[in-house]
Amino acid sequence: MRLHIANGRLVTPAGILDSDLLCTDGIISAILDRGAEVEADERYDAAGKLVFPGFIDPHVHSRDPGMSHKEDFDHSTHGALVGGVTTVLEMPNAIPPVDSVEVFEERRRQHEQSAWTDFGLWGLALGDANIDQIGPMFDAGAVAVKLFWGYALHRETRSLVYNIGDEKPENLLMPPPNGQVLQLFAEVAARGGVLAAHCEDKDVLASSQEALGHPIETYADLLAARPAVAEATTISIAAQFAKETGCRFHVVHLASEQGLDAVRSAKRNGISVSAETCPQYLTLTDAEYPRVGPVMKVYPPVREQKDQDALWEGVNEGLISSLGSDHAPHTVEEKARGFETQPAGAVGCETFGPVLLDAMFRGRTTPERLAEVVATDTAKFYGLYPRKGVIRPGSDADLVVVDPELRRTVRNEELVAKQPVSPWNGFALHGGPVATVLRGEIVVRDGEIVGERRGRFVRADHTAAAGDRVSA
Ligand code: DOR
Ligand code: ZN
Repeated sequence: MRLHIANGRLVTPAGILDSDLLCTDGIISAILDRGAEVEADERYDAAGKLVFPGFIDPHVHSRDPGMSHKEDFDHSTHGALVGGVTTVLEMPNAIPPVDSVEVFEERRRQHEQSAWTDFGLWGLALGDANIDQIGPMFDAGAVAVKLFWGYALHRETRSLVYNIGDEKPENLLMPPPNGQVLQLFAEVAARGGVLAAHCEDKDVLASSQEALGHPIETYADLLAARPAVAEATTISIAAQFAKETGCRFHVVHLASEQGLDAVRSAKRNGISVSAETCPQYLTLTDAEYPRVGPVMKVYPPVREQKDQDALWEGVNEGLISSLGSDHAPHTVEEKARGFETQPAGAVGCETFGPVLLDAMFRGRTTPERLAEVVATDTAKFYGLYPRKGVIRPGSDADLVVVDPELRRTVRNEELVAKQPVSPWNGFALHGGPVATVLRGEIVVRDGEIVGERRGRFVRADHTAAAGDRVSA
């Protein structure tokens, strides 16, 4: 099967190429001069369009199994594909969580039945409770392991507790103490893997909530109860642990200027700390709250304009090396509740590409940097490169075709998500994906799936040459 993408502008981190592209049997086989004569089974005219490497969303909670009334892998990967994502990295906190190699293999088999995109899997790190599973999960191809540092878990289901006051203390499993976390860093380092964490210090959160003196009622209360210093504190501790052990440490969903400063100072000291941020932190602020409403509640919270501006600077200067949606659905009913009782998390993998492209067309970043951060560097970091994340002969032909002229308003009722409630509902977006190519086949055209469901598991390889990695 040969697919010829003609007349497009190919976006690479090094520059934009006015070239054609030939994909053969799922692989990019040649970058051709414009107008080259080629024999192909199918030709796609991409005149006036940008052709990006397929986006990788490394931060998706599909709630499947265990909470599939909130979302499932069929819906999350379908939505992601429509938005230009060709590879999803699935977070480990479904029920049961991926905290052993047995569950890892079971989850892989299960998701192979329903994946619309290619996918990789995260493992869950609990501290001493499953430290013996870290190596086996990396051997099975885990992209990274995740520590919910600062989150209490339900003792039985290991699911996240969003509002600690709602649970009986005997049902809570608190985050492992720092001594255990240090051992975890050492173990991940010994396995050559990546450790990522939710960074909000539980003690800073507890005393900030106490200092507030009343339940969270307003958006300002939420910010006061979860201050940026909670994020920066955990990152600073992690930097010391990474320095001590040589572990590659990644901050997921970085949300504050103060947290970014902690990443910057670690990097300046040659420590392997890297960071991801998300479209919600790059496009929303507290000032948007009256328009967006409580559905904006995510952890860590969306902060101020100065944080958003700092995060864009971090993206553009390379301090932030990956972007993820943190697709974390809850029911429409749950998201309609008040602040205090509603769970944190927002639907986001189908708006991930469109919202970031809109920001790019508004001048927040360049196409080259977007391609790098949303595909190439993410693939390198998670051990998927050069198979994924790059437009180059020999790589998987995963592409997203973007029309700069497209105008689309996000509407809850048009979302694929099982619980269609988006913080971007009503936002008018500039430019956007008009086709998605997964391994050489056009699978989405104009927002509609036109291909077969053919997502595959991708195994991370963390033994790749250090030069092909992005970390510090
Ligand atoms: O808002 C959030 N929701 N933040 C997280 O870290 C987890 C997520 C979830 O799984 O609901
Ligand atoms: Zn998350």
